[in-house]
Amino acid sequence: MQISPSILSADFANLQAELEAVRNADWAHVDVMDAHFVPNLTMGLPVVEALLRVSPIPVDCHLMIEDPDRWAPPYAEAGAGSVTFHVEAAADPRRLARTLRGLGARASMALKPGTPWTPYEDLLPDLDMVLVMTVEPGFGGQSFMADQMPKVRQVRESVRRHGGQIWVQVDGGVSATTIEQCAEAGADVFVAGSAVYGAQDAAAAVDELRALVSQHHC
Ligand code: DX5
Ligand code: ZN
Repeated sequence: MQISPSILSADFANLQAELEAVRNADWAHVDVMDAHFVPNLTMGLPVVEALLRVSPIPVDCHLMIEDPDRWAPPYAEAGAGSVTFHVEAAADPRRLARTLRGLGARASMALKPGTPWTPYEDLLPDLDMVLVMTVEPGFGGQSFMADQMPKVRQVRESVRRHGGQIWVQVDGGVSATTIEQCAEAGADVFVAGSAVYGAQDAAAAVDELRALVSQHHC
């Protein structure tokens, strides 16, 4: 069970301090948006490279961008521990996943709420993580979509059948009130933005989320 705070809800003027504030987490989730794949713009490679230089924990890059086949590999080259691309945007998801692994990153593929899992099940051998979005990507602070839990169950079931160390991540609206149903459905990596950085004490919020799911097993 791993917690990955999203710095989308952090203070962008103090990102180093905001990363230090969650050093008890497993990953720092960094949302890259290009204003094309999603209607929002955040940061790109130069800022991520700077974050990689100072982050006390591994960086989990979530790329909400067009043409990840071209733009995702540099994030792996820069040293991101995990790189997630969206299957809706990828021309050749299998080749991209293999490229990311070849560059030393964990290869991860994300599904928007309207994207089904079954057509992509056969990509599993080339993936280290599947991200099931629990909001429409683009913004922090949105309401959790409980109707994505059946998809989390499907992915977990595929992973179980396939075997190996493939993680199932949820992202969007994950909080103390919604995290347990995600774990129950089979998620084992939990992204939380507003629930962590909107809290009085970010590190305490990470510990609280972890405690809520620590009894669950996939
Ligand atoms: C949404 C991003 C999420 C977002 C989550 O497009 O991918 O990572 O920061 O924020 P919360 O936890 O506030 O929904
Ligand atoms: Zn994200």
